[in-house]
Amino acid sequence: MRKKFADGKGQGKGKGKHAKAKVAAKIFATAKKKRANPNPRSNDFYSKQARKENLPARSYYKLEQIDKRFSLIAKQQRILELGASPGAWTTFLSKKTQKWIAVTAVDIRPMPKLRTAPNKFIFLQKDVFLLTKEDLKGRYHGILSDMAADTIGIKETDSYRSYLLVMEVLSLVPNWLRPQGFVVLKYFEGAEMAELSKLMHKMFSKVTRFRPQATRGASYEIYLIGQGFRADLKE
Ligand SMILES: C[S@@+](CC[C@H](N)C(=O)[O-])C[C@H]1O[C@@H](n2cnc3c(N)ncnc32)[C@H](O)[C@@H]1O
Repeated sequence: MRKKFADGKGQGKGKGKHAKAKVAAKIFATAKKKRANPNPRSNDFYSKQARKENLPARSYYKLEQIDKRFSLIAKQQRILELGASPGAWTTFLSKKTQKWIAVTAVDIRPMPKLRTAPNKFIFLQKDVFLLTKEDLKGRYHGILSDMAADTIGIKETDSYRSYLLVMEVLSLVPNWLRPQGFVVLKYFEGAEMAELSKLMHKMFSKVTRFRPQATRGASYEIYLIGQGFRADLKE
């Protein structure tokens, strides 16, 4: 996979200076737009609804819709939540279980104070790649990842970075997920989809690709749901 990028394939190799300049211009334009307006106020249905209901973000509805379809979250579970700030998914976990849930949440960014926090709640401000076994104690019923690196607007690059995050989460599964446990993984769909699907089918008895209605129309974000972790599976 790394070789693909080392070769420059899919990043404009062979198209010469013109293609590279176009890519650079796109990166600069995206960065400039973000600098000018880092938190654009969205006015779509789910953003308005989230403001009306005093929720930290519209992503609340994505987990709500995932849970409605797959019935994953229940009282008394231990959940590892990766990419948890600003806390919309944590809020959903609390509300769904009337706070009867233990959540270890991780994000590189700080977590604002939550109106509805789980009864047992640990927040680690940390890069997922730096998690240690001291951070994660015991196995979890489910591992949720809504992690996304800042996108630069180039689909191949954004998707590849999202693939690296998904792979990092899958590497945590053998040590930290309970047998029959589940994962929810955000992924910007791209070239590595088939590879991810194959790997997940080895690890889980059921794998589903799901796009909640609350996902923005233009986004190529999907969620990979793995259920029934096969803890006894050997290489
Ligand atoms: C879409 S937001 C998550 C929204 C959150 N699930 C919610 O509902 O409020 C993606 C988050 O992933 C985090 N993130 C990205 N890369 C990460 C990494 N390597 N380690 C930890 N968090 C990361 C970002 O800081 C960002 O807060």
